[in-house]
Amino acid sequence: MSDRFNLLASSAPSLSLTAEMLCLRAVLFACALPLCSPRPLGLLPDEPLNDRPIIGILTQEVTDPEMKPYGGAYIPSSYVKYIESGGARVIPIRLNQTREEHERIFKSINGLLLIGGASNLETSEFAHTTEIYFRLAVKANDVGDYFPIWGTCMGFQLLTVLVAEQNLLSEIAAENVSLPLNLTSEASSSRMFEGFPPELLKALSEEALTGNFHHYGVTEQVFRGNEKLTSFFSILSINTAKNGAVFVSTMEGRKYPFYGVQWHPEVNRFQWSPQYSFPHSKNAVRLASLLAEFFVNEGRKSFHHFSQVEEESRALIYHYNPLYVANFTAYEQAYFF
Ligand SMILES: *[C@@H]1O[C@H](CO)[C@@H](O)[C@H](O)[C@H]1NC(C)=O
Ligand SMILES: *[C@@H]1O[C@H](CO)[C@@H](O)[C@H](O)[C@H]1NC(C)=O
Ligand SMILES: *[C@@H]1O[C@H](CO)[C@@H](O)[C@H](O)[C@H]1NC(C)=O
Ligand SMILES: *[C@@H]1O[C@H](CO)[C@@H](O)[C@H](O)[C@H]1NC(C)=O
Repeated sequence: MSDRFNLLASSAPSLSLTAEMLCLRAVLFACALPLCSPRPLGLLPDEPLNDRPIIGILTQEVTDPEMKPYGGAYIPSSYVKYIESGGARVIPIRLNQTREEHERIFKSINGLLLIGGASNLETSEFAHTTEIYFRLAVKANDVGDYFPIWGTCMGFQLLTVLVAEQNLLSEIAAENVSLPLNLTSEASSSRMFEGFPPELLKALSEEALTGNFHHYGVTEQVFRGNEKLTSFFSILSINTAKNGAVFVSTMEGRKYPFYGVQWHPEVNRFQWSPQYSFPHSKNAVRLASLLAEFFVNEGRKSFHHFSQVEEESRALIYHYNPLYVANFTAYEQAYFF
C-alpha cells in the first residue's frame, strides 16, 4: 500500500506505523497541569456571544513524496469545510514559528482544531506546536478566558498524551471501518451531545455513523486506570476494535472545553473516495453538521481577536486555493503552505 493512502489518519501502514511506533516509547513533556476542582467555565446564559469566530487549524508537515511538490505543509480541505460549515472562519497555523508568534496567534483566534495525520507524537513539530497551544489554552481557561480545543484522531491521541504526560497508546486497529458509538452514561449529560435530538442519539448508538481510520488508540482500561486522564476527561463513548480491544472513541473535558474524537466527523460530508468507508447517510451528515456547529458555538464564547482588521484578513485561509488531490491521496482537495 502506497503512502499516498496513508494520509487519512494516524492510520494506515508504513508511514504512520513508523510514526506511531516511535510514539509508543515516548514519554512526553514534564508538565504540571492545574487540575482544580470543577467549576463552570464560560459565559452566563445572557452574556453576548462572539458571532465572528475564527478557528485556527494547525498545518501538518507533508511527508508523502507525491505531495511534496506542492508544499512543505498541508491541511485537507475537509477540515476547513467542516469548520466553515459550522459558521466560523479558518486560519491555517504554520508549525515552524517562534513561540512569540504562536502566542500572538493564540490571542487572535477563538479555538483550535487538531487534525488527523501521521506525525510523531513526541518529536514532530506538530506535537511541539500543539503543546504550546494546549498550555496557553489551559492557562487562559483557568482565568476565565474561554478557549476550546478539538482533537480528531491523531489530535485526540495528542490530547491524551498531553494530559497524561505519557504516551498510553497501544495497537488498536480500527481502520477503514464505520461504527456506531457505544455511548457511556456520561454522554447523556455531556455538552457535546446536549443539543442532539433523541432520535439522532439513538441512531448514533445503532448505526455506523463514525468513520475510523486508526492503528492505535487508548484502551478503556488504560484510560480509566490513569488518574490524570479520568480527572481531566469524561469518556463519552467506547468502541471495540478488530482485535477485541475496547478503546475510548469520544471524550470531553470535565472542566476545560477540550474535546476529542478518535473517529473522523469531517469525512461524513466532505470525503468521497470510493476506496474508503466514509459514512454518508442522512444521519451521518446530520451528526457531522451538529458537531461542527457545536464546536463553533464553543468558539463563540471566546473573545480573542486580531489587533487589526488588516491583520485578520491577511491571516484567513481565503488567501489560499485548495488543490485537487483526489487522484493521488484519499482526500478530494488540500491546501498547501
Ligand atoms: C520545520 O522545521 C523542521 C526543523 O527545522 C524541518 O525539518 C521541517 O521541514 C519544517 N517544516 C515545515 C513544514 O516547514
Ligand atoms: C457497550 O459497552 C458495554 C459496557 O462495556 C457492553 O456491555 C456492551 O456490550 C457494549 N455494546 C456494544 C454494542 O459494543
Ligand atoms: C474500505 O472499506 C470499504 C467498505 O467496506 C471497502 O470497499 C474498501 O475496499 C476498503 N478500502 C481499503 C483501502 O481497505
Ligand atoms: C492529479 O491531477 C492533477 C490535475 O488534474 C494533475 O495536474 C496531476 O498531475 C495529477 N497527479 C497525479 C499524481 O496523477
